[in-house]
Amino acid sequence: MNNTANQSVRPKTCNRNKNGILEIGGIEIPELIKQFGSPLYIYDYATIDSITKDFKKAFEGRDIHMMYAAKAFMTKAICKIMQKENFGLDCVSAGELYTAHSADFDMKNIVFNGNNKTCEELRIAIDFGVQLFSVDNFTEAKNLDKIAKEKNVTVNILLRITPGIECHTHEYIQTGNIDSKFGFDLTQIDDIVSLVVNEYKNLNLVGLHAHLGSQIFETQVYHDAVEVMMREAKLIKDKFGLSLNTFNIGGGAGIKYVESDEPISIYKIADVIKKSFDENCEKYGIEKPHLYIEPGRCIVGTAGITVYTAGSYKQVPNGRKYVAVDGGMADNIRPALYDAAYTAEKVSYADEEKEIVTLAGRYCESGDILIKDVEMPKLQEGDLICLYDTGAYCYSMSSNYNRTLKPAAVIVKDGVAQIMVRRQSFEELVENDEIPEMLK
Ligand SMILES: Cc1ncc(COP(=O)(O)O)c(C=O)c1O
Repeated sequence: MNNTANQSVRPKTCNRNKNGILEIGGIEIPELIKQFGSPLYIYDYATIDSITKDFKKAFEGRDIHMMYAAKAFMTKAICKIMQKENFGLDCVSAGELYTAHSADFDMKNIVFNGNNKTCEELRIAIDFGVQLFSVDNFTEAKNLDKIAKEKNVTVNILLRITPGIECHTHEYIQTGNIDSKFGFDLTQIDDIVSLVVNEYKNLNLVGLHAHLGSQIFETQVYHDAVEVMMREAKLIKDKFGLSLNTFNIGGGAGIKYVESDEPISIYKIADVIKKSFDENCEKYGIEKPHLYIEPGRCIVGTAGITVYTAGSYKQVPNGRKYVAVDGGMADNIRPALYDAAYTAEKVSYADEEKEIVTLAGRYCESGDILIKDVEMPKLQEGDLICLYDTGAYCYSMSSNYNRTLKPAAVIVKDGVAQIMVRRQSFEELVENDEIPEMLK
C-alpha cells in the first residue's frame, strides 16, 4: 500500500542538505527568512499536489466530490490550488465564501457547513450561487427555507447528523458522538425530514452528512458512519418515500505530528469507505450514490512548516531551560488549546551537543509553550527553528494577541518562493481602530 504525504512528519521536499541546512522546495530556509522575515509559514506545493492526487487516485472510478475543508487554511491562493486540483470547498462562514468568490472560485462547487450560519450568511451563500447546504439544526432549516422562498429559489440540502460514533481523538476535535453541538441527533431525523417534506417547500433534501472528528487514526469509524447514514436513508425512504443518494462522509484523516503518530494511508481510508459504500448500498437498496469527502488537515497540514527565530532563554535553577521564539500561541494556538504535540528541528545543524529544552512562545501567557522538554542541538539567540506540520489550523486560527503582527505565508516550488499572504503591517493592525468623539 502506498504511503501518502500525511504519513510523514516532513513535507515532501524538505530535507537537510549536505551543508547541514534544511531546505524546502529547493530553497535553503535561511534564504527564505532573509527574504520574507521571521516567523514565517512556508507551504510546500509538492506536498499538497501529491496528497490531492492520491485522493483522486484512491477514489478513481467513483462518483465522488472532493471538498477541501477551508477552515484548515483559507486564502485566495489555496482556492486557486484547489480549483486547479479539481477539488471543491467546504466553507463554514461568509468570510470563507467571500475569499473563495474573490479568488474566482467556482461557487457551485462548494458545500456550506456550520452549526450557526446566520441569516445574512445564508443570503450571501445563495447570492454567490452556492448550491449545497449541510443543514445542521432546526433553526437553520426554518431560516434557510424562508430565505430561499424570499429569493424564489430551491436549494439542495444535506442533513448533518451525529451518528453516535466515538473516535479516539482529542475531545475538542470529536464531533460525531452523541453529546455534540453539531448536527441532528438520530432521534430528531423524523421530525426534521417531516418538516422538510411537508412545510419547507424551498428545501430539496438530497442526502446526509456526518463528520466524525479530526486527526483520526482508525478506519472502522468511516465504515460505521457510512453504514449509519445509509441505514437512516433507508428508514427515510420507508417512512417518507424520499430517495436520498448523496452522502457526505466529512473529513478527519490524521497526519503525523510526531514520530509516534501512526496516521493511515489515504488509500486505506478510501478502501474502507468504498467497501462500506458498496456493501451498504446493496443492503439498503440505494441506487447511484454520490459521495462527498471533506479533508482539511491532511491536505495542507503536512505541507506547512513554521520557522521561528530563537531569542531569549531562561535556565530555571534546578529546573527547565526555556528557549523563547519570536512567535507562539498567536500563530499556533494548538498546543495551548489542546496540548497538540509537534516536532521541531534546528534549521542549521552542525553536529552540536544536544540538550533538553522547552520551546516557549513570546506571548504573555504561561500556557504559551510550543513544545515541552524536547531534545535540541544547543540553541543560541538568532538560531532558526522549524516546527513541522503547521499547515492546518495554525494560520487559520491565528490572532493579533499582544498586538503582534500575523506572519507571512509563502508557497515554494522548484526553487521559487512566492507570497500567499503578506506579513501584516502596523498600519493594518490599527486600521479598524477608532478614537470615539467622547475621548477626543
Ligand atoms: C464538517 C467538517 N468537515 C470537514 C472538516 C475537516 O476536518 P479535517 O481537517 O480533520 O480533515 C471539519 C473540521 O472540523 C468539519 O467540521
